Amino acid sequence: MRAATAYAHPNIALVKYWGKRNDELNIPATPSLALTLGDLRTTTHVEETTSSVVVLDDERVDDNKINGWLAQLRRQFDLPHIRIESSSNFPANSGLASSASGFAALTLATSTAFELDLSLQEQCDWARRGSASAARSLHGGFVTLEPRENTCRVSQILHENEWDLSVAVAITSDRSKSTGSTIGMTASRDTSPFYEAWTRTTIDAFGLGLSAVQNKDFPALAQVAEASCRHMHALMLSTEPSLIYWNAATLHCIEAVERMRAGGINVFYTIDAGSHVKAVCESDAVNEVSDRLRQFEGVHGVVVSSIGGPAQLVSER
Ligand code: DP6
Repeated sequence: MRAATAYAHPNIALVKYWGKRNDELNIPATPSLALTLGDLRTTTHVEETTSSVVVLDDERVDDNKINGWLAQLRRQFDLPHIRIESSSNFPANSGLASSASGFAALTLATSTAFELDLSLQEQCDWARRGSASAARSLHGGFVTLEPRENTCRVSQILHENEWDLSVAVAITSDRSKSTGSTIGMTASRDTSPFYEAWTRTTIDAFGLGLSAVQNKDFPALAQVAEASCRHMHALMLSTEPSLIYWNAATLHCIEAVERMRAGGINVFYTIDAGSHVKAVCESDAVNEVSDRLRQFEGVHGVVVSSIGGPAQLVSER
C-alpha cells in the first residue's frame, strides 16, 4: 500500500495577498511576501484506500476545497482513492494559516506516496491550487509568491537562519473566523470601491518589502508590513457586507506593539483574516513582547515561534 507522511509550517504574509486574478487556477492578483512560523506545524498522512476520506484533527470532514483538489489531482495522475489524515499543533480556521501548512504538507505527502515526480515549482503549483498561500509553505524562511501568466513564481529570499527574528502570536479568540479567505477576498474584489487602489499599492509595497528583507532592514520592513496589514483590513471593512475580523483584544495588542516600538523595541504587528495578532520582533525581545501581550484581557495565550524551514517528509512506504 502506498503511503507517506509530511509536515509543513504555516506562513504569515508581511506584504499580503487579498484578491485573485484567476479564480479557476487560483492565481493571486498581486505578489506577496511571507515568513514561515517554525514552531507551528501541520502533519499530514496519506495512503491508498478504497474510498477517499479526509480526517482533520481527528474529525472526519467533508471539505469542498480539499475534495475538489483531490479530485483534480486524482484525475490528472490517474490515482486511486486516498485517505488523508491531518493534524495541527495550533487552532485551525482562525487566521493562523492552517490551510497554507495543510495544503503544503498534503502536496508533499501525496506527491511522494504516489511517486508523482514533481519539481519543487510543480509542488508549489499544486499547493497553490488548494490555497494560494500554501505555495509559500513549501519553502522556509522569507518567501515570495508572484503571479505569472498561468502560474505563480515562488522564491526563497532569505533562509530561515539568515535573520534572527521571532514571532509572538497573541491568540485573541477561540472561535473560527466568520468568513473564510476565498469567499472574503472574492467579495472584496466584487464590492469594495478601494480594490483597485489596494492592488496598485500592493505592487509598490511588495518592491519595498522585498528590499527591506534583502537588506535585513527592520524599521523599513515594519513600516511596509504594518501598512499592508492596515490597508488589507481597510479593504475588508469596505467590502459589502463588511468583513470585520478584529476584536477589542486585537486593538489592545496593536496599541501595545506601537508603544513597545516607541520605547525602543524592534517589533511590528501583522494580522490576517482573523483576530489574532502576530508581533514580529528581534529574537532577544520576544519574551518581553509576549509577556506584554499576555497581560491584556481577551488574550487567551501567546504562542512564540522562531522562523521555520521548508516542508519536510517524515516517512514513506
Ligand atoms: C490574509 O491563501 O488562504 O492570509 O487562496 O483562497 O485559499 P485562498 O486564500 P488564502 O489567503 C491568504 C490571505 C491572507 C494573506 C496572505 O497570506 O497573503
